[in-house]
Amino acid sequence: MSSVTTTQAPKGLEGVVATNSKICYIDGDRGVLAYRGIDIHELADHSNFEETCYLLWFGRLPSRNELQDLRQRLAEERHLDPAIIEFLRNVPKQALPMDVLRTAVSALSFYDPDQKKNDHDANINKSIRLTSQIAMIVAAYDRIRKGKNVVEPDRALSHAANFLLQLNGTKPSPTAERALDIALILHADHELNASTFAARVTAATLSDMHSAVTSAIGALKGPLHGGANEAVFRILQSIDREKADPVDYVRNMLAQKKKVPGFGHRVYHTEDPRATHLRVMSRDLGKSSGQAKWYEMSEKIEKFIKAEKKLNANVDFYSASTYPTLGIDEDLFTPVFAVSRISGWTAHVIEQLDDNRLIRPRAEYLGPEYPNHYVPMDQR
Ligand SMILES: CC(C)(COP(=O)(O)OP(=O)(O)OC[C@H]1O[C@@H](n2cnc3c(N)ncnc32)[C@H](O)[C@@H]1OP(=O)(O)O)[C@@H](O)C(=O)NCCC(=O)NCCS
Repeated sequence: MSSVTTTQAPKGLEGVVATNSKICYIDGDRGVLAYRGIDIHELADHSNFEETCYLLWFGRLPSRNELQDLRQRLAEERHLDPAIIEFLRNVPKQALPMDVLRTAVSALSFYDPDQKKNDHDANINKSIRLTSQIAMIVAAYDRIRKGKNVVEPDRALSHAANFLLQLNGTKPSPTAERALDIALILHADHELNASTFAARVTAATLSDMHSAVTSAIGALKGPLHGGANEAVFRILQSIDREKADPVDYVRNMLAQKKKVPGFGHRVYHTEDPRATHLRVMSRDLGKSSGQAKWYEMSEKIEKFIKAEKKLNANVDFYSASTYPTLGIDEDLFTPVFAVSRISGWTAHVIEQLDDNRLIRPRAEYLGPEYPNHYVPMDQR
C-alpha cells in the first residue's frame, strides 16, 4: 500500500465515514436516531435502560429471561473495591466529578477479575461491570464531597432507581425513576460521536476496555461534546441570578460571537430526536417539582435561537433543565451522560475488537519545507 495520502479529509472529519457499524443508525436530515434499527422514540416510550444495554451489547432485544439475567448481573456488579472508595475520599474536595470519574475508571482496571483478558466474553463482563460501577462512582463521589455517607446499593432496584437512591439517599418516586431511565435510554449511544470514536481508536491498538473508556470519558468532558449540558445550566443560573431577560442574555452572547451551548449539531440538520423527549420531560418535571423556571427560560431561549440562527436544540439543552429536578447537581450532568453512554462505548469497543484493524490516519503536512536542517545552538 502507498505511504502517500490520496484524500484530504474535511476539517473535523465532517461527513467522513470512518468505520462500518451495526449499532447505531442516524439520519441527520430526517432527525432519526435508532439503536440496532429500533427508533429512539419507540425505545423511549416502551423500553428501559437495562433492555437498551442488552440491545446495544448483544444486537437484539432480549427475551424475558435474558433481560432478567442481565438485570441480575448488573445488580450483582453493584460493588466497588474499598480502594476505589478510599480514592474518592482522598481526592481534593474541589476536584471536578468528571475528572474524578475519569481517573477512577482507569483505576477500576486494577480490581477487574478479567483485567488480563481482552476477548469478546471478557469484554461483555467488563461492559456490565463498568455500567454498574460508573453509576456508583458518580453517586458516591458526590456524597463524599458533600460530607455525606456512601449509600449502600439496593440490588432489587432498577439501574436508574439505584443510581438516584445512591445519589440522594432516598428511593426515588416512580416518576423520577422513569424520567432518569428515559434520559439514560436517550443518551446510550450516538454512532461515531467524539467520545465513542476516541474509545474505538484506543481499543483498536489492542489496548483494553478500561483504557478505551478512560479515553472516552476524557473526550466527553469537553464543552463541544458532553460538557455542553453543564454549560447550558450555568447560563440558566446566571440569567436567574442576574434577573436577566433570557433572550437578551443569549442575544448578547451571539453579539460577542459566542456559541450558545445546547444548540447546533454536526449531524442533525433538523430537531435532535432526543431533544423532543427531554423538552417534555423538562416541562413536566419542572412543573411537578416546583422548578418550572428553568424550563420557562429554556423555552424562550430555544424560540429565539431557532428564529435568529436557525439552530435546533440538541440533547444537552433540555437535559440541563431536567436533571436539577432529579436532585442532580450541574457538575454531575456530564458524569450522568457517562452513566448512560458507557453502554454505547462498550458496545463499540466490542464491535471494534470483533473485526479489528488499527485506526491510524494521516495528516497533511503543512510545516517548514523538508529538508529543514538542524542549526547548532550558537548559530541560531
Ligand atoms: C455541536 C457543534 C460543536 C457542532 O459543530 P460544527 O459541526 O463544527 O459546526 P460549527 O461550529 O462549524 O458551526 C457552524 C456554524 O453555526 C454556528 N453555530 C453552531 N453552533 C452554534 C451555537 N451553539 N451557537 C451559535 N452559533 C452556532 C457557528 O458559529 C458556525 O457559524 P459560521 O459558519 O457563521 O461561523 C456546535 O454546534 C457547537 O459548538 N454547539 C454548542 C456546543 C454543544 O451544544 N455541544 C453538544 C453537541 S450534542
